[in-house]
Amino acid sequence: MLARAVTHAPAELQLPRGRVIVNLAPAELRKEGSGFDLPIALAMLAASGQVPHDRLAEHASVGELALDGRIRPVGGVLAVAEGARREGLTELLCHPDSGTEAALAGVEPIPARHLADAAAYLRGELELEPLVPGNGRRDTSAHPDLADVRGQERARRALELAAAGRHNILLGGPPGTGKTMLARRLPGILPPLWDAEALEVTRIHSVAGLVDPDHPLVVEPPFRSPHHSASTAAIVGGGPRLRPGEASLAHHGVLLLDELAEFMRPALEALRQPLEDGEISVARAAGNVRFPARFQLVGTMNLCPCGARGDPNAQCSCSAQRLARYRDKLSRALLDRFDLVVTVPRPRAVELQGEPGEGSVTVRARVVAARERLRDPPRRTAEADALLTRAVERLPLSGRGRARVARVAQTIAALAGSQDVAPEHIAEALSYRRPAELAS
Ligand SMILES: Nc1ncnc2c1ncn2[C@@H]1O[C@H](COP(=O)(O)OP(=O)(O)OP(=O)(O)O)[C@@H](O)[C@H]1O
Ligand SMILES: [Mg+2]
Repeated sequence: MLARAVTHAPAELQLPRGRVIVNLAPAELRKEGSGFDLPIALAMLAASGQVPHDRLAEHASVGELALDGRIRPVGGVLAVAEGARREGLTELLCHPDSGTEAALAGVEPIPARHLADAAAYLRGELELEPLVPGNGRRDTSAHPDLADVRGQERARRALELAAAGRHNILLGGPPGTGKTMLARRLPGILPPLWDAEALEVTRIHSVAGLVDPDHPLVVEPPFRSPHHSASTAAIVGGGPRLRPGEASLAHHGVLLLDELAEFMRPALEALRQPLEDGEISVARAAGNVRFPARFQLVGTMNLCPCGARGDPNAQCSCSAQRLARYRDKLSRALLDRFDLVVTVPRPRAVELQGEPGEGSVTVRARVVAARERLRDPPRRTAEADALLTRAVERLPLSGRGRARVARVAQTIAALAGSQDVAPEHIAEALSYRRPAELAS
């Protein structure tokens, strides 16, 4: 006869007497977290003959154990379930709250609330109710609408290009002109994640303990906006508990650094590597740890500490030294990684009173179409190529700068529905390089 699920530790589970050595090979691979509690306890029960070896060998398991034997959910279950699948295991013993996440990896979750239940199940004395996981998709969130932004046509155009081509964008200008407002409207015009991307993002968010147990699958590009006082470890990851940072949480999505020049320089510099290769490696005594971090960077900033630069109706009161210090915060190397740099001027009164701008739904439809066309990107005509070569010599553009202009021009062509990249597309792309106000 099958027993009912118990919620207290039964007396019959015995801890083996004497010393117990648990070997978590391979030793050079760093293990973190309490998710090993349940597998270690089950291994000890198998070693002491209290659960059958062969049954245990057919199951993966993950979970934290309370002192009374209750199983608690842990983060990172998707990665565990994917690992189990790679090892050919199709069933995962875990807390019921982890079930939907485990199912995302194509593994059958066996939900248990207590070590004794897991042991009884493995002995064949208890049937655990199978979970019927939902589709696990997180609801799409409501984003503020681009229609709220009046005027600022050039910045809106640059934002659309950024969305279509996943370009990094810097919005500079005087206070109160709508920079933060525009930046916060980028997620609303981005296409949803592809399935493989959704799994990658969910894996990272799960490790960071950010998923909702019932709807763990992140289906929209993440949008992260850390405060400017954030430490380097908070932004790029690491720290004593080796957590992914904001840059990794923004993987396949957007990292907004609002008030870019207020961030600490080491934190900004640490972003240079992931901006180039899409991952962060954190050096540890026990070897390097790599986190994926392919994000789109959005920065906003005033053009000087007093904020008046770029505003024709105000007089900048910053001394030359103060201005130089402010600009020194942003290295040339970091600025070079912004594909689109636009100044956001003070809107004119008539613009602020005018009709609402185009809404996010319309813009997003164009972005989605352009993304589709960019799968087979348009190529430069001979004239466009010649214009780009001339620009590299005159401006001058770095090798990276040239490649970035070329990519932005492709996005412009794709948005226009053009088969090739024409000289006018190169010319527009060049107009988004660093403006004079930011030149050092
Ligand atoms: N172009 C605009 N259209 C509509 N409202 C605007 C516009 N620009 C500014 N506003 C209004 O001003 C407020 C402040 O805008 P926002 O926070 O985006 O400014 P900002 O450029 O980021 O300024 P700061 O440099 O001080 O951070 C907005 O909440 C909005 O109400
Ligand atoms: Mg702002």
